[in-house]
Amino acid sequence: MVLKRGAAIIGWGSALPAKVLTNHDLEQRVDTSDEWIRTRTGILERRIAAPTEAASDLALQAARTALKKAAICAQQLDLIIVATVTPDMIFPATACLIQNRLGASLAGAFDLEAGCTGFLYGLSVGREFVRSGTYNHVLIVGVDILSRITDWQDRNTCVLFGDGAAAVVLGPSQAEEGILSTYLGSDGSGGEFLYVAAGGSRLPLDNEALKHGLQYTRMKGPEVFKFAVRIMADATLEALNRAGLGLEEVSYLIPHQANQRIIDAARKRLKLSPERVLVNLDRYGNMSSASIPVALAEAAEAGQFQPGDVLVLVGFGAGLTWGANVVKWI
Ligand code: ACO
Repeated sequence: MVLKRGAAIIGWGSALPAKVLTNHDLEQRVDTSDEWIRTRTGILERRIAAPTEAASDLALQAARTALKKAAICAQQLDLIIVATVTPDMIFPATACLIQNRLGASLAGAFDLEAGCTGFLYGLSVGREFVRSGTYNHVLIVGVDILSRITDWQDRNTCVLFGDGAAAVVLGPSQAEEGILSTYLGSDGSGGEFLYVAAGGSRLPLDNEALKHGLQYTRMKGPEVFKFAVRIMADATLEALNRAGLGLEEVSYLIPHQANQRIIDAARKRLKLSPERVLVNLDRYGNMSSASIPVALAEAAEAGQFQPGDVLVLVGFGAGLTWGANVVKWI
């Protein structure tokens, strides 16, 4: 089947909690130092949601900004996809909560979970609905409040994460512009490297689970690190190949923001100069599925992208999952 139209990003918006948690603040909580965190991760500070702030609150804010930018109203949305590992509650879906609060009465809505790769999975699903002509406007949100599933006594993880949200609106475009390619992957055998054990049907969140801190994120950092370096470069090349483009045509790489050393290693493997790689983890840490869209939305808002620019969005996360999309900016 030859598709006659493409799917392009026509609106964007981000929402960050007001509270800033610095490395020096963390020095007061666990046995760590600003120097260790800066040199081993590149993170200087991160945002932390207020106790009253849930995923849907940040998602709603980002979504409203994205709709405004796209110059469409909520009634014009056909579908809402929220990528998150920290929904407001197990059910109903956070996508349904924001569907209601936006007044998007004609939209279907669902949550999608692919760890930190969630936003790229959502973008890929939304793209197909728009390209096929099934829908005209799809809202995709990447939001995570990782601070709620972080063990603030565990220095191996608590220095890494932050909270945030960002949204994009997809709309129809010419076939040769917008999201040009999709590459998604998974390897469930790596599930043990990054997980939250309790709160699901295998291990309900009872007193015993709480006593052992099983509601928190556990991670085998070095294993994830090795996987990430390999997959970021491989996924970028595969997505470019599927778009029929080469590395020399890339205007900006927008990688998942887990560790500056992972980003640098991938960048060097791809032989890209630092100016072509967007980085926000120094200010926000790893915001899981929000990291890539926040970087995209902030750069778009700053007027950094020109029509025709080629962006590669690439990420990895729990699952293990990974993905990349090539986007020709309109
Ligand atoms: N402060 C001080 N020391 C620390 C800290 C800290 N915050 N954390 C760990 N250390 C110590 C360790 O205990 C260890 O000490 P030891 O040698 O005495 O045992 C030492 O530092 C080195 O530990 P490593 O784990 O080998 O440190 P490494 O250089 O690998 O950095 C890190 C750890 C930052 C976690 C790195 O492995 C990493 O970034 N991994 C990838 C993380 C990632 O990408 N996560 C993705 C999450 S995606 C999602 O879905 C949420």
